[in-house]
Amino acid sequence: MKRKFAGIFILLSCCFLWSCQPPKSFTAKEISLIPQVRKMTLGTSSFKIGENTGLIVQNSDQQGIADQFSNLFLKSAGWKPKVITGGAEGSNQVFFKTDETLGDEGYTLDVTTARIEIKAAKPAGFFYAIQTLRQLLPAELESTQKQENIDWLVPVSSIADSPSFKWRGYMLDVSRHFFPKEEVLQMIDYLSIHKINTLHLHLLDDQGWRIEIKKYPRLTQVGAWRVDREDKPWNSRSKQTAGEKATFGGFYTQADIKEMVAYAQTKFITIIPEIEMPAHVTAALAAYPQYSCSGGPFTVLPGGVWPVTDIYCAGNDSTFLFLQDVLTEVIDLFPSKYIHIGGDEATKTEWEKCPKCKKRIKTEGLKNAGELQSYFIKRIEKFINSKGRVLLGWDEILEGGLPPKATVMSWRGTQGGIDAAKQGHDVVMTPGQPCYFDHYQGPKEDEPLAIGGFNPLNKVYEFDPVPKELDAEAAKHILGGQANLWTEYVPNIKHAQYMTFPRIAAMAEALWSPKEVKNWDDFYRRIQTFTKRYDIMGINYAKSAFKAAAKPQEPVKK
Ligand code: ACM
Ligand code: ZN
Repeated sequence: MKRKFAGIFILLSCCFLWSCQPPKSFTAKEISLIPQVRKMTLGTSSFKIGENTGLIVQNSDQQGIADQFSNLFLKSAGWKPKVITGGAEGSNQVFFKTDETLGDEGYTLDVTTARIEIKAAKPAGFFYAIQTLRQLLPAELESTQKQENIDWLVPVSSIADSPSFKWRGYMLDVSRHFFPKEEVLQMIDYLSIHKINTLHLHLLDDQGWRIEIKKYPRLTQVGAWRVDREDKPWNSRSKQTAGEKATFGGFYTQADIKEMVAYAQTKFITIIPEIEMPAHVTAALAAYPQYSCSGGPFTVLPGGVWPVTDIYCAGNDSTFLFLQDVLTEVIDLFPSKYIHIGGDEATKTEWEKCPKCKKRIKTEGLKNAGELQSYFIKRIEKFINSKGRVLLGWDEILEGGLPPKATVMSWRGTQGGIDAAKQGHDVVMTPGQPCYFDHYQGPKEDEPLAIGGFNPLNKVYEFDPVPKELDAEAAKHILGGQANLWTEYVPNIKHAQYMTFPRIAAMAEALWSPKEVKNWDDFYRRIQTFTKRYDIMGINYAKSAFKAAAKPQEPVKK
């Protein structure tokens, strides 16, 4: 008898010391979710994800999301939880359950010691629940190498979450410098962890046309390439000379675009194409000078140009036919509701001289070249609407009267957005301060050369897309906000990451989290832990951004 008791005692002791040891409990300070969730109750103990944990889903959308999660373990743990469609509820599961009340992007996440239950109405909600779950797990989950001795613990907790704004955007200028498809796909991964849901691609500008258009092959044969003056300052680069070869650039084939759009969809990111007009189109005019007022010739610019005077001729009907052809191919490639047509910074001196433009002003009863821009954009809007899409443009599209159904992207401060919202138009807020991520983020002397300005992490964190000037009714037109990375001074993807991270984390929280849970000091703590994930993922983030009390820099020149 004695021996038997002793045996049981030893067994129980071992059990307590090893396998039956109560799982770790977490304190709030050990958890670093970004963006902060709307509501979280933290319990004691934790749930351990192991090889035998089942991810139980109900349909193929959920399965795709669960597979992505499971595959993270395959790399970092060396095994993966099984994804099972239509399995019964039980323990040791991450159970996906549809709850129609949770909106387009909302979710709940309930973690007990026995199981995890995720509820959402839509696939996006399940995806965001998984991003949160991912962040509750050790950062080593992000590793592509097998990790030893990690307990994959999720704190017992109950989370209810949904975004404050439905437009949580990031713009990448792929014209001033080109970023190949693989780099954009990687950026999509990184953005999606932060619950960013919109990637705006600035696909063309004076310095390069980056999207294959089958009907106009010269747009990429000619327009995608410029002479290499990368060794000179952006604003001191001489134009291409006769006989000089244009070798610097690149473009996305239509197959690349389809792949990027489809990949982004798996991360619940909509790609918005921007097809600039009527200005910032020197690359297009280098290929097809007949759509300018003067007839050219033009070359793709290797550096800065100001003012932007070589623009599409608004008096020439063939310009509109060309643009409609281009937009038709673009609309076929991008399923987004919004098509961005630029509209910014057109200096109209050529229009004032051009007989065709002058004639258009007369026949359309317009007052001046300013109204001709409004005519131009309205005509394009009709075409975009005829394809079932919505025109989106920079706030210059307000000048001379907004097209009737247009959405405005407010970049020259907030006034354009305020005016548009008051007129009943939807608005995306992206004021230069603090949304331009090409601006400095730390003391200038410590930073790589940037265009100017100063948008440190704390200023981005304070961003509120809804201006105080708007009443509740007009405020409903603010869809959200966006960070914009212009790339004149950003020659490669590592530099783009540097300008983007960690500021995008602050932007994500400004756009996702309700004001009541936002707290700079707490964010400052969380982001410093969160960067462990960046380190493991190989993201080149700016450490200088943590010097939040840096001196202001000289005003931006653009
Ligand atoms: C812009 O920054 N020109 C939209
Ligand atoms: Zn003209």
